[in-house]
Amino acid sequence: MKILVINGSPKGDRSNTLQLTNAFLEGICKAQQNALPQIETLHISQMDIKSCRGCFSCWKTTPGQCMIKDDMSFILEKLLGADITIWSFPLYYYSLPGMLKMLIDRQLPLSLPFMTQNADGGSHPARYDMGQKKTVLISTCGFYTSQANYESVISQFDKICGKGNYTTLFCGQGELFDIPELSDRTQSYLALVRQAGKEFARNQISSQTAEKLKELLFPREMFEQMADASWGVTKNGEKQDDALTFTKQMAALYDPASYKGNDIVFDMDYTDLQKQYRIILGKKESTVTEEFTGKAQTIIHTPFHVWKSIAANEIEGSKTLMDHLYTVEGDFDLMLYRKDYL
Ligand SMILES: Cc1cc2nc3c(=O)[nH]c(=O)nc-3n(C[C@H](O)[C@H](O)[C@H](O)COP(=O)(O)O)c2cc1C
Repeated sequence: MKILVINGSPKGDRSNTLQLTNAFLEGICKAQQNALPQIETLHISQMDIKSCRGCFSCWKTTPGQCMIKDDMSFILEKLLGADITIWSFPLYYYSLPGMLKMLIDRQLPLSLPFMTQNADGGSHPARYDMGQKKTVLISTCGFYTSQANYESVISQFDKICGKGNYTTLFCGQGELFDIPELSDRTQSYLALVRQAGKEFARNQISSQTAEKLKELLFPREMFEQMADASWGVTKNGEKQDDALTFTKQMAALYDPASYKGNDIVFDMDYTDLQKQYRIILGKKESTVTEEFTGKAQTIIHTPFHVWKSIAANEIEGSKTLMDHLYTVEGDFDLMLYRKDYL
């Protein structure tokens, strides 16, 4: 079995979406251990794909052959040879990234010019028998959910492949796959994608797995607060200090459901930067401030890079404390129960 992955992200192998696609492929391989599929991934950002010129040469002058000489003839061969094609791409403006759309337009040589009889809205028949091939769309987007954001992609592929003739896996909050500090959550999602790949290889993604895949990575408010904090700029467009950006992102992970009746106030003292920020975990939300009225319950004195490494699970918090890489002043309970809050 041959699987072709068309990676339509301009970011090539740094694509968030590709992490999901690779997990899906791992699931397929797990299910097909006795006859491992042949997998080929094409990073289209590194390929030469020119825009269709609309000359119809591929229909009338050299049937089935495009007159443009670039990587597209190689891609068409791969598409024809694949049993499964996985289109892996980010959502751009509620649709496909431009380069991927160019590739799709350049598939015209794979169609015959004649009109399909009685096709809803009109269509062209395939030049080659593609009936046994399977198509999968895997995509991430930047909004909190994939719901209601993929209409134009779905309506396009409904026309290209036929409604219900392809499998989709769409995921919101895609940028979180690039944040090591959140890998606990993203890895558990990727495990689910692996499961989906396994089920797909055996038959189809079960409705139970499909439902779980629709669950948000993080609740909407938490995600949006984190996303807004992540750009490193203020709403006025001024550059924001890295330590403040990081502290705001950390505070955004606070779940007000863990509120126990009193605000929790703690200060982050980044000793190497001589910068302090106060985080207040309140009944409804968390706030980060540079105003220090009253005393915090807990003050964490730490080099910035040490705390970043702890947050990214690169080093273990309690061991780092024992090694005196950071110190805690005041109420120590907050440290013990830190994971309950942040
Ligand atoms: C030009 C551009 C347009 C985008 N448009 C949307 C959009 O319409 N909806 C959305 O939810 N995310 C949008 N995003 C966010 C990407 O879909 C998101 O960051 C995705 O996870 C990137 O995936 P990748 O790393 O695989 O390229 C857009 C990003 C860019 C750069």
